[in-house]
Amino acid sequence: MSNNDDRLNNASQQGLRAQVAATPVGAVALASQVKETQDKQSVKVEVGEITVDLNINGENYALMLEPRVTLLDALRERLQLTGSKKGCDHGQCGACTVIIDGQRVYSCLSLAVMQEGKEITTIEGLTQGDDLHPMQLAFIENDGFQCGYCTPGQICAAVALIDEVKQGCASVVTENLTENLVDNLNGLPQLANLSELEIRERMSGNLCRCSAYNGIVAAIQQIAGQIPPEPAALVMVQGQA
Ligand code: FES
Ligand code: FES
Repeated sequence: MSNNDDRLNNASQQGLRAQVAATPVGAVALASQVKETQDKQSVKVEVGEITVDLNINGENYALMLEPRVTLLDALRERLQLTGSKKGCDHGQCGACTVIIDGQRVYSCLSLAVMQEGKEITTIEGLTQGDDLHPMQLAFIENDGFQCGYCTPGQICAAVALIDEVKQGCASVVTENLTENLVDNLNGLPQLANLSELEIRERMSGNLCRCSAYNGIVAAIQQIAGQIPPEPAALVMVQGQA
């Protein structure tokens, strides 16, 4: 049994595990079937379709798509990678967030054809076999979701956020740009000092209709090496004792 499994069992949250992974083992298997089918069989080409070569979660796919097909629709409708969610389809909610060449991108606002030659990572690609990504575990351990619809996008955004901070990227609420830049030129990440305000601002492009924001922030604090607050419910129980 892996370390990840141990942690999940201790938390007695096996059911939540499947939800936060959004994975889709079946979807991944289906995606590979689609790929195999496209590799081995002639694909019916509709008028206006072109070949679009995409690298998704380390796999290469040659899809026949109209140039106007969004990356989100290509993922969900053609490859059955349904972890990325369609919330608004207008770049307003973040449910469709994926990671492209290390940066978070709304896949509903990006055409699939624009992503040729890039490395696309979806929520399915964060999981390594049966082991969840540390950020996925942190979401479970900190109650970072309720219904789970926004969660794949939140987790992809959070993973990219950590990398952005390590690279010295500032946000609109970063107070001392000079200090951060100097520290990062010296190779010192600022994760340990990242304030809750910074995390909330940097995650402001991902909405959660269940309002699980406190847990989401706590999960990111945990991965940033900080000590997140206890879950609110536990605090309330302790307060009554
Ligand atoms: S579905 Fe893409 S931002 Fe809402
Ligand atoms: S957990 Fe339900 S929308 Fe975020």
